[in-house]
Amino acid sequence: MNKTLRKAIVAGNWKMNNDRNAAKKLITELNPLVKDAACEVVLCVPYTNLETALSLCEGTNMHVGAENCHWAKSGAFTGEISAEMLAEMGVEYVIIGHSERRQYFGETDQTVQARVRAALDAGLKVILCVGEVLEQREQGITEEVVALQTKVALGGVSEEELSRIVIAYEPVWAIGTGKTATADQAEEVCAFIRSVVAKLYSKAAADALTIQYGGSMKPGNAKELLSKEDVDGGLIGGAALVASDFAAIIEAAR
Ligand code: PGA
Repeated sequence: MNKTLRKAIVAGNWKMNNDRNAAKKLITELNPLVKDAACEVVLCVPYTNLETALSLCEGTNMHVGAENCHWAKSGAFTGEISAEMLAEMGVEYVIIGHSERRQYFGETDQTVQARVRAALDAGLKVILCVGEVLEQREQGITEEVVALQTKVALGGVSEEELSRIVIAYEPVWAIGTGKTATADQAEEVCAFIRSVVAKLYSKAAADALTIQYGGSMKPGNAKELLSKEDVDGGLIGGAALVASDFAAIIEAAR
């Protein structure tokens, strides 16, 4: 395995934060701080901020993503947004299967698979989130849980399409709690996910796959986490809302 074979990607997940003015301010502050980033920088923002983010990120090295998409192309799904709609706007990435979607909005491995399919068909790149809850870690079934989530989500995804997928390993107990997984815990599961992908596809495909860690990543712990062989970037929640913190994490990916 060789870390240099793959692209490091640090993505911010704004969640349901930032009105239009706050979005403008944050992106404007970030731009000079991340313009020489050594990794790819992605901002995943609420639907209402996509237009703002797309126009402010144009001509910069910041890429824009959404936080979810529906599995159908169009239809009677009040309140939903399709992958096609995002692609048509010029959105490049979409987060799928975030634990908050699984926890609060009934997202299952099957609906995650359907959304991944729709996103790939629309030409989007996917940040696919997997991760165990605390009870599962305590029961010693982290690997089973993460393998199942990964295998179901990637059902029907070709090896060629896999090049448009990033996997984010996010232990649910570490999200927004301040409890970061240790760098060794993060490495262990990220390496395990890579082995699952190697069995499903090929060693070359697994070696080329970007696997992020997410869950309370901050300037203070980013360097150690990102230095691990199988941790190729981060999916950042809280710290992505503060320009200097997000920029410091991006710098740590150098
Ligand atoms: P956090 O969120 O960095 O605030 O823990 C990470 C995420 O939910 O993607």
